[in-house]
Amino acid sequence: MDGLAVAATALRQSRHIVVFTGAGISAESGIPTFRDQLTGLWSRHDPQRLETAKAFRANPALVWGWYLWRRQQMLQAQPNAAHHAIARLAVSGRQVTVITQNIDDLHERAGSQGVVHLHGSLMTPKCFACHRAAGLSSVEQSVSEEGELVEPPRCTHCNGRLRPGVVWFGEDLPTGAWKAAVQAARHCDVLLSIGTSGVVMPAASLPDLALASGAVVIHINPIDVGMDKSKEVMLIGDAGQVLPTLLERALAS
Ligand code: OAD
Repeated sequence: MDGLAVAATALRQSRHIVVFTGAGISAESGIPTFRDQLTGLWSRHDPQRLETAKAFRANPALVWGWYLWRRQQMLQAQPNAAHHAIARLAVSGRQVTVITQNIDDLHERAGSQGVVHLHGSLMTPKCFACHRAAGLSSVEQSVSEEGELVEPPRCTHCNGRLRPGVVWFGEDLPTGAWKAAVQAARHCDVLLSIGTSGVVMPAASLPDLALASGAVVIHINPIDVGMDKSKEVMLIGDAGQVLPTLLERALAS
């Protein structure tokens, strides 16, 4: 059997599917991945240097401007065929848990519910000083041209600067989201790992956890990111093409 047939059979026989996604699933919606070369005015900045508390302390307007720009990119983007295929999977009668490392809302806009956001979200600003959640309206008022510095709005409780509700390098994952992800990875029959380079821990350990618990792990990526374990299947290609084909084959009666 070829990889697609093995993956389709595993999905057909499954009762609980975990869909674990990374930046690659949003690539076909026009959102650059982390390891893509950025073009334009942001190309002289390394995201890994902007996405830290240290960078925010040193230059809040630069970091806030960066996230406003990313938020605008997200709002202009539309969910693609892969996001839609995942949302349809939930109506196949199986338990489906969507776990994402992405801070965009494209899964939700495609119709997926209860999405576990391991790295937070661009939709949940909070105060850098007192950590209280801030209303989205505080972000909606500000717009950013590419590369523009924008002073963050202030917290209405303590006057601290607002920051995006995302997980920065060196910060812990939200406890509830991580617990839910581990629980789902340990109890699923199949974990679909889509569009992730699998290098950022601890999120990248979820496929291993599922394998160790006896699940089949199916990777979808234009490059081979498999670990050559016996219950792993590597499907090479773009998520927007491979995933709908796979699900159609798996779920066709
Ligand atoms: P990366 O940018 O590291 O990896 C994107 C992956 O998507 C690569 O393996 C690409 O080959 C793959 N890819 C590109 N186009 C694709 C397509 N059309 N279909 C399927 N796959 C495609 O993104 P992540 O793995 O998500 O962390 O990065 C993990 C974390 O690193 C991010 O969540 C972020 C970053 O630092 C935080 O913000 C904490």
